[in-house]
Amino acid sequence: MDLMEYQAKELFAKHGVPVLPGETVDNAEAARGVAERIGKPVVVKAQVKTGGRGKAGGVKLADTPDEAVARAKDILGLDIKGHLVRKVLVTEASDIAAEYYVSFLLDRANRSYLAMASAEGGMDIEQLAVERPDALAKVPVDAVKGVDESKAREIVAAAKIPADVADEVTQILISLWKVFVEEEATLVEVNPLCRTPDGRIVALDGKVTLDGNAEFRHKDVFETYADVVADDDLEGRAKAKDLNYVKLDGQVGIIGNGAGLVMSTLDVVAYAGEAHGGVKPANFLDIGGGASAQVMADGLEIILSDPDVKSVFVNVFGGITSCDAVADGIVQALAMLGDKETKPLVVRLDGNNVDEGHRILSEANHPLVTVVDTMDGAADKAAELAWSSK
Ligand SMILES: Nc1ncnc2c1ncn2[C@@H]1O[C@H](COP(=O)(O)OP(=O)(O)OP(=O)(O)O)[C@@H](O)[C@H]1O
Ligand SMILES: [Mg+2]
Repeated sequence: MDLMEYQAKELFAKHGVPVLPGETVDNAEAARGVAERIGKPVVVKAQVKTGGRGKAGGVKLADTPDEAVARAKDILGLDIKGHLVRKVLVTEASDIAAEYYVSFLLDRANRSYLAMASAEGGMDIEQLAVERPDALAKVPVDAVKGVDESKAREIVAAAKIPADVADEVTQILISLWKVFVEEEATLVEVNPLCRTPDGRIVALDGKVTLDGNAEFRHKDVFETYADVVADDDLEGRAKAKDLNYVKLDGQVGIIGNGAGLVMSTLDVVAYAGEAHGGVKPANFLDIGGGASAQVMADGLEIILSDPDVKSVFVNVFGGITSCDAVADGIVQALAMLGDKETKPLVVRLDGNNVDEGHRILSEANHPLVTVVDTMDGAADKAAELAWSSK
């Protein structure tokens, strides 16, 4: 789970990484109170889960509380790379003598952890990494040994952080490693790590990605920082129902049981679509081995509420849950959905008890359901229906 800057900074503060005071607001007028409490010039910062906010006009200085309100008004509602700004952080402005870059991340390719650091941080770090890669130090971190004082010193030296702040940056790296390990992150990044004119070091920005596989050990953190799911957010709604769903950009809704079967269903539908105007799969949805009628209904409900979906392909191989149970599930799901169901469904069943499954579907004789025996045939039918109702 990616965190917003203000959330990352809360975790930084908890583990001793220095940050400046600040508060988030979701309406511009509320920025006044925060600026007054801080009692110094502030920076108003868009809180969205994407980088490059500064360059997109999402980070602005405000000298007075009135200006803070005006800047918050400018920034709230901005669209930054497809992310709508609903919240801004109003935080103390700092004088900047230098900007450093530090991060820890999971280095999957090398099955290890990696520290990256540079004395030349700031908004152009991506450019620096491309144009002058030697200015961005990369130091492997052993998972067991972690970052102790000597490792932190090694990183500081490799990054060419000036000697007079080396001790302080060393301590910050040790604290940042604590954030990484104790919060079970796959990324922590500070850019810029700011050096003030009087020689203090403070994190002016923060990026943290928490490891979703460790959620069960950090229920409180995940709950506190969970995104509020918008009504139109299909993936969020699917997650709330524990469904394995990924939105894609096609028109044929897909439901299957087993990730492998669903993956190959996406392939055959994309292939079949070539003969029908280039329609494509609209989603990945694996309802798993022992899917109940309720799970089928939940899955159908999500897919049918996707305005891009023009037809649905239900592709099930009866195993632990036999085809008759799946057919019952489909019939019950359609009954639960009632009038909400308006898009054609193509169903292909195979495996355990397939004849009984077919009998149940033909008896129900639902006007929107077409049963096709083969996977290729069903994919073709679903693609044809999607194309003709486009
Ligand atoms: N509290 C602050 N006081 C003074 N300047 C700041 C402050 N916060 C940010 N800045 C300036 O604005 C720039 C951009 O801010 P920040 O790094 O937080 O956003 P960003 O552009 O989204 O960064 P990234 O691309 O790394 O996500 C910083 O490099 C820094 O120069
Ligand atoms: Mg930044």
